[in-house]
Amino acid sequence: MNMKNIPKMKNILLPAALTVLMMITQCSNDKTGLKDPFNGYFLIGTSVNKAMITGTDPLALPFIAENFNSVTAENAMKWERIHPEPGKYDFALADSIVSFALKNNMAVIGHVLVWHSQTPDWVFLDSLGNPLTREALLDRLKEHIYTVVGHYRGKVTGWDVVNEAVDEDGSMRQTKWLQIIGDDYIEKAFRFAHEADPDAELYYNDYNNEEKAKRAGVIPIIRDLQEKGIRIDGVGIQGHWHLDSPDFSIVDETIGEYAALGVKVMITEMEINVLPTPAWLYGAEISKTAEYRDSLNPYVEGLPDSVQTQLADRYAALFRILLDHSDAVSRVTFWGINDAYSWKNDWPIPGRTNYPLLFDRNYKPKPAYYAVINEVKKK
Ligand code: XIL
Repeated sequence: MNMKNIPKMKNILLPAALTVLMMITQCSNDKTGLKDPFNGYFLIGTSVNKAMITGTDPLALPFIAENFNSVTAENAMKWERIHPEPGKYDFALADSIVSFALKNNMAVIGHVLVWHSQTPDWVFLDSLGNPLTREALLDRLKEHIYTVVGHYRGKVTGWDVVNEAVDEDGSMRQTKWLQIIGDDYIEKAFRFAHEADPDAELYYNDYNNEEKAKRAGVIPIIRDLQEKGIRIDGVGIQGHWHLDSPDFSIVDETIGEYAALGVKVMITEMEINVLPTPAWLYGAEISKTAEYRDSLNPYVEGLPDSVQTQLADRYAALFRILLDHSDAVSRVTFWGINDAYSWKNDWPIPGRTNYPLLFDRNYKPKPAYYAVINEVKKK
């Protein structure tokens, strides 16, 4: 090597080395996502669906690993998907979600064991098509829970054991589970889940359970399980919310009330709908829908700045409350990674363009993202 060239090479190599170094730091900076400033407060989760996990959208998985530390299968673990026919289980998709999550050190939430929706009709019928007896349905429930929870034993952090068992007025929702088994179907489900994985956390999950009347129906369920010595670790508040509802002071009040029972509180399926929606469709009863109308889909070309700001302010107000309760709140899960993936584009009215999450359709952080980060940075 001609020694005379060394200074010249230094001129080339040093900047190159610096660039590489910058790239490396930048890479690790890039890995600092939404979840990171919330370390020490609560987990930040997302739902995960088929397109994400199968790589149809190659941007999805790296984005999830960067921004979230908890995942919930949006549909893959529901009865109709994981146990579509008697004796037939299909774990493939859910397995991929779980292995992706574990590889990335994320908490896995099992969603959901007992629900009135997305549960096939055959579950409640015998082979001749007659309604099952209480004992037969309990056997079927036990078999389902043992198989599914057993399959993920040691891998799932916590299970939504029962979803949406209470009606708006606080009474028990009239479901086939209630009608055939009776009031104790909830405690049976929790017992079976605990037997199948003694280390898994167990949750009761619902929507609108921040509302006073519904909350008054949920609290006795938790107390009853506790009094019977049955494991219950947390209450999930789904959080399918809107720009104008609920008043977040009731979320504040509710978290306090649930926490006073000694259980963890989680926001499990959060988004904030920005589209005009008739109030009778608020909540998340998935069988309720309405027909598409252009007047209910005003932002096809983009979200006006004024609404963008409203959304950011609303998220900020919510996160102020959640952060104030961070001793009780263990996880906040968004129902979708970005606006393109939100179920709110198609429910309760199909074919709309909604903007309910923190990232836009191109994975770009929205003002709501910065508003939320700003709240945690103030802490
Ligand atoms: C929704 C999914 O996001 C949709 O893809 C599916 O078509 C219907 O269910 N409450 C729940 C979630 O507990 O499982 C629901 O998820 C939304 C309401």
